[in-house]
Amino acid sequence: MILFPEFHDRYGPWAVVAGASEGIGQAYTHILAERGINVVTLARRIEPLEKDAELIRRRHRVEVKPVSMDLAAPDLAEQFSAAIDGLDVGLCIYNACYSAIGEFKDTALDQYQKTLDVNCRGPVTLANVMTPRLVERGKGGLIIMSSMAGFQGSAMVGVYAATKAFDTILAESLWAELQPLGIDVLGCIAGATETPDFLRKTPADKKDKAFPMRPEAVAREGIEHLGKGPLHICGRMNRSVNAVTRIMSHKQRTKFFSGATRDIYESATEA
Ligand SMILES: NC(=O)c1ccc[n+]([C@@H]2O[C@H](COP(=O)([O-])OP(=O)(O)OC[C@H]3O[C@@H](n4cnc5c(N)ncnc54)[C@H](OP(=O)(O)O)[C@@H]3O)[C@@H](O)[C@H]2O)c1
Repeated sequence: MILFPEFHDRYGPWAVVAGASEGIGQAYTHILAERGINVVTLARRIEPLEKDAELIRRRHRVEVKPVSMDLAAPDLAEQFSAAIDGLDVGLCIYNACYSAIGEFKDTALDQYQKTLDVNCRGPVTLANVMTPRLVERGKGGLIIMSSMAGFQGSAMVGVYAATKAFDTILAESLWAELQPLGIDVLGCIAGATETPDFLRKTPADKKDKAFPMRPEAVAREGIEHLGKGPLHICGRMNRSVNAVTRIMSHKQRTKFFSGATRDIYESATEA
């Protein structure tokens, strides 16, 4: 028995989660499976995808198709089209990102090129492959994961923040074009979230200062807000921070977030 028949009809029978092997992407996959949706899971590492696929198939009786794919690959459109060939995909979630934390003057250009590839070229490519298919179906959705970092500039994460501003504006723009055609688009804005990537990069003694959310809570908010408007900021704390900092000047806001970022990450990059 399908527990969420309307959701299944609108966004199923298949969904794609790009960046699904851990963290928020993994949580999205489990939530979709819970709702009876089959999932194509994409990431570079196939082992965690396959392990998770086995668990999900047993637990939720849905199909899972793990595919190893580098979302920064130059031939991403072809690889992605091949991965979903023959499947009726109603929802695509672009979750993966790359972030190089450090001073701009000390960071190699290839780090930033990878950030642009995974965070900007990736979501544009997957959305571009998906959009004609969704329009033909006349229903479905796209979720693009973005970040509170995309609302202002900040020292140490400038290029990441700029790519997240790109993701937010991309989601809003696609919402404006596709919503009248029956396609739901959501820019899902996360703040600090306790994902393996966050835990790898954030010094243990600074972790709590960021008030991280659980990945499952972020993914659940994303799914619940799909179809309700172009953007959703996850977590009451993040929504409050956004409301308060919106009344600051650009200068005050950029200084505030730069100070907070330096406070958390400066010691980590000095080590
Ligand atoms: N965590 C936070 O504190 C936080 C805060 C604000 C916003 N967000 C947003 O939330 C989203 C998810 O963040 P996250 O922390 O869960 O982790 P993440 O490091 O962005 O993504 C992890 C997933 O993406 C995959 N991935 C990364 N690069 C890839 C590539 N080149 N090709 C294919 N797959 C790739 C990883 O698997 P493989 O390593 O196996 O490829 C893994 O499954 C991002 O869009 C981020 O901007 C996160």
